[in-house]
Amino acid sequence: MLNVPVVIGASDEALIRLAAEKQFHQPIARLLILNELRLGTGARKVYSVEVEGFDTSRSRFYAKIGPTSRIRHEYEAYREFDATHSRGRDTAVVASQSWLVEGRDDSDSCFSFLVPGEAAPSRPLDDHLKGGRINWDRVCDAVRDLFSRLRRPKKVDRDGFEWADRYSNYLRRSETESRLRDALGGALDEDAFTVGSRRLKSPWTLVETLRHGFNSKVRERMVHGDCHQKNIVLVPDKNRLRPCLIDFRWSRQFHWLVDHVLLEQSLKVFHFGRYLSDERFLALHDWLRDGNPPANLSPVERDLLAVVRVIRTAAEEEAEGEDHFQDQYSLTSAITALGMIGVHQCDAWKAWLSAAWFTTQCRQGGYV
Ligand SMILES: Nc1ncnc2c1ncn2[C@@H]1O[C@H](COP(=O)(O)OP(=O)(O)OP(=O)(O)O)[C@@H](O)[C@H]1O
Ligand SMILES: [Mg+2]
Repeated sequence: MLNVPVVIGASDEALIRLAAEKQFHQPIARLLILNELRLGTGARKVYSVEVEGFDTSRSRFYAKIGPTSRIRHEYEAYREFDATHSRGRDTAVVASQSWLVEGRDDSDSCFSFLVPGEAAPSRPLDDHLKGGRINWDRVCDAVRDLFSRLRRPKKVDRDGFEWADRYSNYLRRSETESRLRDALGGALDEDAFTVGSRRLKSPWTLVETLRHGFNSKVRERMVHGDCHQKNIVLVPDKNRLRPCLIDFRWSRQFHWLVDHVLLEQSLKVFHFGRYLSDERFLALHDWLRDGNPPANLSPVERDLLAVVRVIRTAAEEEAEGEDHFQDQYSLTSAITALGMIGVHQCDAWKAWLSAAWFTTQCRQGGYV
């Protein structure tokens, strides 16, 4: 993702104008396309737009512009996600209104959305984290709120869930392998490694094992699929922060745990990990499992424990005694953490450590 000064092309401006007219049902005298352009992967651009002459709480929207097939796919995924999770309610989970303006033939299309009650600008959770001063109690409440809404739809059982295949998008195998080879060299092929006094199993070996056809039964439901801190927008609402999901490119029927696990891993690997030594980072994983943190935690460690507990409690509540829940959580965590190594700006070593901690938790025999 890049932030660059905007030189907006005439075709993008025309599409945004059409999108504004579709929403406000009249010709728009003046559009203010804010000096902030986000470039995502796959040639999508996200503009923040203000329409002059309307009530300020309703005049700001975001416009995502990109190739028609991709934008239409995201719009349809969003519609299905919204239909499953909000069922006509005033939902906190997605934007209050979203609409599509399709370009002609092979040209670009525009997917726009208003965020509910957006009088003050909403910001992604990631911006709050970068800003430094963050009210973690409010963030934890928002995360709890998010997952309590995501668990509503019924889950369906899927037999023969092939882990390595189904999670291959998250695993980013070739990028992950080449980064790991650069960092670890031949050590990548070892089954285990040592950190301090601890012996950890190699997540790469786990993935190789999974690739040889390991499958099991899991539940699926509609998931967001890319539930990390850049895709959760927090909307100020009185004295709380309302969570709102954006970016529905990966929304689909999938393993119900993926949103929980992806958020836990991305918070640890892209945010908290950089403040923690390897030993402490691994010890936090133990304390989370055993529920016995020591008294001398730093503020960062306290915040990490608090938010991860919220995520895991939500997962446990949704699991409702499901078989192999802990193993599913460990396996999913190991795979998603490993795949993060291939993502730009990832703390690859912390991702590797977290993946290894979860790999070491996976039961021998029962699951792997
Ligand atoms: N409603 C919104 N409120 C605040 N910021 C937003 C909103 N919509 C988009 N943004 C900003 O624009 C960024 C990019 O939007 P989005 O996540 O939809 O696309 P992307 O991640 O670039 O695309 P992709 O993952 O499809 O390549 C977000 O991370 C966020 O910073
Ligand atoms: Mg995004």
